[in-house]
Amino acid sequence: MKMQKQIGMTEIYESSKGLLENAGPGSKTAVIVAGHRFDESQKPEDERICYDPYAVHFVTPEIRELNKDPLKAKAMLESLGNVGILLLGMGNSTRARVRYFDDFVKASIDKGLEQLVILGAGYDTRAYRIEGPHDRGNFKVFEVDHPTTQGAKKEKIKEIFGELPDHVMYVPVDLRTEILGERLLGSGYDRSKQTLFIMEGLLMYLPPKAVDEILSSIVNNSAKGCSIIFDYYPESVVNGNSELEVGRITHDYLAKIGEPLLFGIRDGMVEEFLRKRGFSEICNVTSEDYKNAYFYGKNENRPVSSLLSFAHAEVK
Ligand SMILES: C[S@@+](CC[C@H](N)C(=O)[O-])C[C@H]1O[C@@H](n2cnc3c(N)ncnc32)[C@H](O)[C@@H]1O
Repeated sequence: MKMQKQIGMTEIYESSKGLLENAGPGSKTAVIVAGHRFDESQKPEDERICYDPYAVHFVTPEIRELNKDPLKAKAMLESLGNVGILLLGMGNSTRARVRYFDDFVKASIDKGLEQLVILGAGYDTRAYRIEGPHDRGNFKVFEVDHPTTQGAKKEKIKEIFGELPDHVMYVPVDLRTEILGERLLGSGYDRSKQTLFIMEGLLMYLPPKAVDEILSSIVNNSAKGCSIIFDYYPESVVNGNSELEVGRITHDYLAKIGEPLLFGIRDGMVEEFLRKRGFSEICNVTSEDYKNAYFYGKNENRPVSSLLSFAHAEVK
């Protein structure tokens, strides 16, 4: 009988590590997310889930090469067997997250948003590509990130646009140790303006105490009706004991690349979690919700991962 090779985190790490070898000193997960935006953006307009024309600048040459060679990419995924499909689902959930958050930003702008704060901004390019932020005179975007990743990003932005745009305030902050409210107020943030706080792919990398500190900084320094949007994993994934193989692999892989998962929310508890911290109008978005919203027609058979949910809420 032919023995099936067991695929685990080590095989995934070994087969993909070349893609991140030239990721530079900043966050590797920020490059992985830019890779998803880049890959999706290469698809025809009527097929892609999200679109980011600048993502190409934030990925490694190896990720760009792999995108040009779909047969190699397919073989790489197939070599991982069932686990390859599970990882594909995680990737698709990440792409749906970009789209959902984009749609949310656009809807907020239409409703009169006056200020945008992007926490753990990484290589997020919304400040440069979504209409509103760069073409409205006094609209400011605050990009908050760890100084190392933000430094790398600013260099790239200068390369792309020739200079750093006036409407973006770059606020280097270590969210584990610094108080967000103080750093924002010191950077020109206006606590009386209608503001949206984006935390995309961020909270899971911070200790629970830092997550509480961020949410309390937001509640204490913003007007009623300001919003937050973020995504989260269930606590079981963060603890490394997910019932799902993809959950355990994700946990081990992120620890291996030096960005371990630290914060999750127990299934079914997001509303209570946010209400206790001063938020109302809470909306939880499950994988089923975003699968139904975005994956139809040619995309109908693309898997998503049940592990990644999104949530948004307003300051009470
Ligand atoms: C998965 S990336 C997401 C980047 C971006 N939001 C996106 O979706 O493309 C995680 C981001 O969180 C940031 N981050 C992690 N720990 C941080 C900390 N202690 N302080 C500030 N930023 C942090 C990283 O620098 C990185 O940009």
